This record gives sequence, structure tokens and C-alpha cells, in this order.
Amino acid sequence: MLSSPSKSLLVAAATLLASGNAQNTSYYTTYGGSPPVYPSPNATGIGWEAAFAKASDFVSQLTLEEKVRLVTGTPGPCVGNIGPVYRLGFNGICLQDGPLAIREADYASVFPAGLTVAASWDKNLAHVRGADMAAEFKGKGSHVQLGPVAGPLGRSGYGGRNWEGFSPDPYLTGELFAETIMGIEETGVQACGKHFIGNEQETQRNPSGGFIGGTNSPAEAVSSNIDDRTMHEVYLWPFANGVKAGVSSIMCSYNRINGSYGCENSKVLNGLLKEELGFQGYVVSDWLATHSGVPSIKAGLDMDMPGGIGFLDSAPSYFGANVSTAVNNGSLELSRLDDMARRIMTPYYRLGQDSGFPPIDASSGGLNFFPVSNYLYNFTYGPASVDVRDDHAKAIRAAGAAGIVMLKNVNNTLPLKAPKNIGVYGNDAGDLINGLYSLSGLALSVYGYEYGVLGAGGGSGTGRFTYIVNPLDAIKIRSAQDDSLVQYVLNNTLIIGQDSLSPTYPTPPDVCLVFLKTWATEGSDRNSLLVDWNGTALVETVASTCSNTVVITNSGGLNVLPFANNPNVTAILAAHLGGQEAGNSIVDVLYGTVNPSGHLPYTIAKEESDYSFAPIANSTALLETTDIYAWQSDFTEHLLIDYRHFDYYNISVDYEFGFGLSYTTFSMSNLAITASSSSLTATAAPAKVAPGGNPGLWETVYTVTATVTNTGSVAGAAVPQLYLGLPQPTADLDDVTPIKVLRGFEKTYLEAGASAAATFELMRRDISYWDIISQDWVIGTSTIGVFAGFSSRDIRATGSFTPLSGSGSSGNGGGYGNGTASATASVTASPSGSVSGSATGSGTASASGTASASATASGYGWGNGWNHHYGGDQKGPWGNAHHWGPPKQ
Ligand code: BGC
Repeated sequence: MLSSPSKSLLVAAATLLASGNAQNTSYYTTYGGSPPVYPSPNATGIGWEAAFAKASDFVSQLTLEEKVRLVTGTPGPCVGNIGPVYRLGFNGICLQDGPLAIREADYASVFPAGLTVAASWDKNLAHVRGADMAAEFKGKGSHVQLGPVAGPLGRSGYGGRNWEGFSPDPYLTGELFAETIMGIEETGVQACGKHFIGNEQETQRNPSGGFIGGTNSPAEAVSSNIDDRTMHEVYLWPFANGVKAGVSSIMCSYNRINGSYGCENSKVLNGLLKEELGFQGYVVSDWLATHSGVPSIKAGLDMDMPGGIGFLDSAPSYFGANVSTAVNNGSLELSRLDDMARRIMTPYYRLGQDSGFPPIDASSGGLNFFPVSNYLYNFTYGPASVDVRDDHAKAIRAAGAAGIVMLKNVNNTLPLKAPKNIGVYGNDAGDLINGLYSLSGLALSVYGYEYGVLGAGGGSGTGRFTYIVNPLDAIKIRSAQDDSLVQYVLNNTLIIGQDSLSPTYPTPPDVCLVFLKTWATEGSDRNSLLVDWNGTALVETVASTCSNTVVITNSGGLNVLPFANNPNVTAILAAHLGGQEAGNSIVDVLYGTVNPSGHLPYTIAKEESDYSFAPIANSTALLETTDIYAWQSDFTEHLLIDYRHFDYYNISVDYEFGFGLSYTTFSMSNLAITASSSSLTATAAPAKVAPGGNPGLWETVYTVTATVTNTGSVAGAAVPQLYLGLPQPTADLDDVTPIKVLRGFEKTYLEAGASAAATFELMRRDISYWDIISQDWVIGTSTIGVFAGFSSRDIRATGSFTPLSGSGSSGNGGGYGNGTASATASVTASPSGSVSGSATGSGTASASGTASASATASGYGWGNGWNHHYGGDQKGPWGNAHHWGPPKQ
């Protein structure tokens, strides 16, 4: 559907040529190679002037060897270490994983995963969690938190690390990524946003024989081949929010992007990140993602981690002594090394880490992988085993509950009403029996550990639990208030095999709670979207006896749920990964202490095969290939991932993006659209780039408000959501504009009967598309549809606005008409007719074009009326003039 004859020709020609020249990598990248962007832009400290001045002063006092020390990791007590320069009072920099906890630490908390935060749709929660996590990093003497994650975004539901990040929707991820960064940095810790960019699969994430993720065939890492518009509107989008929020550091990724490795890709590091987004901090390599010295440095890499090519030793290194040599022999300019050093030191001063920062916890080294005998420096330690947990458990419990999505609840099954006989089933319900730490997916089965609640995924993004509350224990404690009988069988195989609930008696219980889990880990992708450990069969077995079966999942990503329509399955909770208080958070929702308010940050489709539009690159042929460039992942679905795909192709799903039930009900009314200015230009006025890009992109240009009312009988939080139907750009493109995209959400707590205004501020970027020809964000000439509601398919109020006056020409023959050119907002009734009130748009209403009300009106339904197909010339994803050229080295 999205391919064109010209593209097929290109690929065919490529294949022919490639067979004659295995080194010609450009033929393997559907979109051409990654173009060279040099030189690497020098930081100027914009926005961080005082810190930049201090950093410059510091760097000016360093010897060449000391500058090199700043940019090269070294064995030490943290997962990443920069050596000290004691003569200048600098004790070095300690970098620690990861996105949900300080992992290499004792007496630290494990917070809910990014996925759970995404399911909460709560910006404030993301901010507070960031601050709480950072307090623990700081208490342990860690300057840098290696998180949060916005890559993977979640292009494929099978992605092993999706749970470390937030959501496949770039807007939702962007907001929560930025809030997390602000929370972390307000606490005085540097955030490191990762993995930049296109790190959408674990399979072959590294070259064969490299760090986990590689296969045994001799091959380079997978190349994520992403066109320019998709790059900007999907994968780069949340990173722009992160840079705008002041992120100190960005970690470049293992994979290749359009043929060139993430940590030596000058287009993405020099071009997108430093030039276009104006990033003033430093780029750190993922661990062993550096594959060259001078070329990587020139492409924008500032810090090499862990430093040594062999991981545990400091030498040999692509950086280290080689950087000194390169400066001395003139192959690397000293000014670039100075820039790297200043970029590294600026956040350190900006966050006041030069004074009073706690020393590294003396227990850190023992939890880390570097043998002490490999250390080159005497690091400065504080006391051992500092307990940094504070009272974070409270917020963790609340956040875990906020990230639970109630998918089904028939006959008010939930909240539970003092059931007398409770059955608890499933291997996710009980305590961990294999220990509290699961770093490596490789040491575990592909489904993780069999017994015990799943509170976090595996790999470097996991946490070392000091305790975890399992659901069974939490149920026992809560149900004691009702003198309930709590009977349990935690062995899935036993129940399925005997096909009964035995030894439960009396049977069936009043309610059967089935706890299921789904493992996901760094280093491998999931091989199924079903729940693990035969969970589907478990539900069916339990439900065949128990007509009141409640299913609760703890999952590191999305699950398809074949039992969703089983009439005996009366309620379903998707509880994601709750961290150390997982069981308490679930029980709070089960018993109604907390009214569920989570909403899906992804779509639950009907079948696994519904997700085949964005596959993980993998096959037997690839696994056995002798072609070193064979691993290619073409993002041919372009902008259409997750709900954008299902909406565009009008596919029914079980539970759509944004969906979530509550114990109360909400209504929405009074949609109003207000323009900030009566005349808007198609592009932001040229301006000096600041962190985040052209500041004009971040200016509010429209404000949409709606009244949300709690129409039920209990207090609860609604998540009003705003979607826009943006026009298809007039240029012929190989991609299509989604039917609607999320552009606002505001978690709103309401007492029963209460109302509040939800306000969505639309920035220029929110209503623009990335124009591959002009290389700028451009506001289209046509009408923009406004859809407000409580999920991507529960739209309660619609409206429209046309930002550019006098547009009036050349429509695209369907979908949006040409130039209705009305700056007055219009509000139309939703399908249910529940919207009242009229719009209060302001601005110029002059139209020089032909008003075409019918085109506008037909444009707002999903799956119909939009001009889905744009033929014409194949421009190439980077635009005619913007193809990424051949790989630079
Ligand atoms: C991961 C990073 C992590 C680093 C250090 C890498 O394998 O991809 O996310 O921060 O290891 O543990």
C-alpha cells in the first residue's frame, strides 16, 4: 500500500548492484545512506551560560591527557565511570543504570516501569517519580541516571525493551519523557535520554559476536531505515521534548540508522541532535556501541563507554590514548576535544554537582562488573549501603495503581465487595522464589522466571528489589478485613493439566483472581504477544468452572487477549510492571481503595497477526547469512504505527489506544477552540536555535478547552485526550498523514458530580508536518480536525480550525478540501450528539479560496473520507534534495 513502483525499481536495482559489490552498503538501505553532516557543532552553552562559563574555565586548565580522561570511560565502581582530576577538585563522574531504579545498588527502591507511567497518562506522576528516583541516585553518589528511555518507542509490540520507555505514541512519550527529565534534573542529577535513535529491536542490535543481541552469523548490526518525515514526526519527536526539557546527556544506540552506526552517524548526532535540536549537552555511547575513534568523534560522539573495547579493561580503547595521538598528529582538532569536554562538564556545573554532591556509596563496586584490580584511579567513597529509599514506597504504590488499566468490568464485578471465598490462581500471584534480581534475560528462560510476581523486566533496565509485595500476600492482608477464605494454586501447569480448580473447596469460589505475566528483557525480543506460561489456557480452565473470573496481567508490553470476550471473564486489569509495591497497587484497585484511571498507551488488537505491519527484522536466512550487511529493517509503515495503523486501515481492535475504564463515568462538553493570534505564518520565523530547535515551534498557537464532568457516584480521575486530524501535505510523498494523532491529554481528578475544564495548548509543532523539501515544520493550508474524548475511538466532541487564512488553492482531491479558510472554530456534535455549546474561535475569517464544506465534513470520520493514497513521483524519504548520501565511512 505504501510502496510505489519507483521504490521497487530502486530496490531491484540495488539488489543487482549489491550482488556485485558486497561493500556497497547504500544499496542495502532502502532510503539511501546516511548523509554526512560535518563539522560537529560546538556547544555555546545557550540557556546554560553560567555553567558553560565554569565548564570552559575548568577545561582550559586541563592537560591533553586530562581532557582525554573526561571523554573516555574507565573501570570503576559505577556502570560507567569518568576518572577524577583531583588537582582541580574534580572527583570524576559516576553513571548508573537505569530508567526505573538505581540498579547497581542495595537499599534502593524499584519504581514502576516507564510503560506503567505511560499507562497512568499522568505528567505530574512522571515528574515526581523522576525526582524520587533521582534522589536515590544522588544519595548513592551517582551523577548521571541512565534514563529515561524514548527509544525504543515501541514500533513493534514484540520489542524486548518497550517497557523501559513509555508508548509508541511520540506525543505521549515526549510529554512523559520531558517530565521525567525535569524531575530528575531538578533534584540535581543528570538525566541521560536513550537510546538515540531507531533502537526498535533487540535482535541483532549489535554486530555479531558483539554485546548481547548479536547472532552467530558474521554481520553488522541491524539498520533501522527511516525516512526523513517519519524520523521527525515519530522517532525524533520525543527526543526534541527531552532536549527542550534540558536533558544533560543523550545515549547513542547500538543499531545502525540508514546504514551508519548510531554512535558514528553524523546525520543523527551532528545534524539532527546538535544542529537542528540545538542540544548543548554530551552524547555518550551505549556500552560498546562505539566502533571507531576519530570518525565517531567527528560524527558527534562526546563520551565513550565503558571505555575499553573489551568492556572490563580500560585499554585498548577507540578513545583513550588514541584520542591523544589523533590530536597530536593533527587528525583530530583540539577544538573538537575541547567541545566534548565542555559539553560533559556543563551539566555537571549546571546542576551544582561540583559542590556538596554525595560521594559514591562504598558498596557500589561490589555490585558492579569491573574487577577492582582493573581500576586506574582511587575513587572517593562515602559510607557503604546508604539506605536511600526514604518513604518512596508510598508514591510507588500509588503510581503502580495509577498505571493499571481496567479493560473490562461487567456487572460491576469490581471493586470486590467482601467476597467470602476467593480463589487465587497463576504463577504471577506469589512470591519470587529465584531471588530478587533478574539482570540478564540470558540466564533466565525466554519467559523469565516461572514463579513470582513480575514487577520489572530484565536487563540493564531492571532493578534490584529489596522486597516486592506479591498479590497473594496483599490479598491475604486486605481480605482478612472481611474474614474471607483465600485459596490458591500458583502452578499453571497443574491447573491446566488436571482441568479443574482442585484442591479449591468449596468450588467455584465467589471470585477467581487469575494472575498472569509476560516477560520482556533487553537482549532479545518477545516471540509472542500472548501472555506467557500458558496463561491463556489457564484463564480458560479457570473460567470454565468459575463464572466470575477476574484476570490481572503483569506484562512488559502489550498482550493480545483471546479470552477478552469470554463471558465468564468478568473483569480484566492490565497492571503492567508495578515495581516493588506491585501487589499492593493491584489490591488497591481490586478493592476500590483506588479508582482505576489508567488508559492504554498502546492498542490491543484482536490477533497477533494484526501487528505484522511493523515487524522485527529476523529470519532463518538472516540468522545464517554470510552477507554482513543483510540485517535491514525498513520502516515502510512510515508514520502509521500502533493506533495510526489501525485507524487508517479501519481495523477493529479489542481495546484501542487511550482506552481505560473507571468505577465512575465521565462526560465531555463545551469544546472551544481559540487562536492565539489572528495571523499565523506557515513556518516559524527563522530564529537562533535553542535547545529543542527553533523556539517558535514551542509557542502556543491554539488553545482547546472542554468541560469534563464526573457523572457517576464516586470520585475518580478522567483522562481527556485531544487528537488532531492534520492535513496531508500537498507534496507527493511516499507516506500518508495519519487520520488522527494525539496532541494533548490532561489527567483530571474529579469528585462525584464535579466538573473541570481540560485545557490543551497546541504548539506550532503540534499542528505542523515535517516538510522534507524545505527541511522545516510547516503548517498545512487545509482544515485541521479536532477530536476530543476519552480514548482514540471514544470521541465525544469534534471541531475544526484552519490556521492559515487565505489558503484557498489546490486540494488533493479527497479528504480535506481546499481552503475552507475559516479561522472561526466550528464545533460539531459528536456521533452520540452529546456535545453542546459553540466554539469561540477568533482570528481572521477571510477566505480567498473556495470554501468546501463538504470536503471538510467528510474528512473527519475514521477510515473514510480521507485521502489515503497519494500517487505521483517517488521523492525518496529524505526528499529529492535530501536523500541521505552514501555512508560516510
Ligand atoms: C544498555 C544501556 C545501559 C548500558 C549500561 C547497555 O547494554 O543498552 O541501556 O545503560 O548497557 O548498563
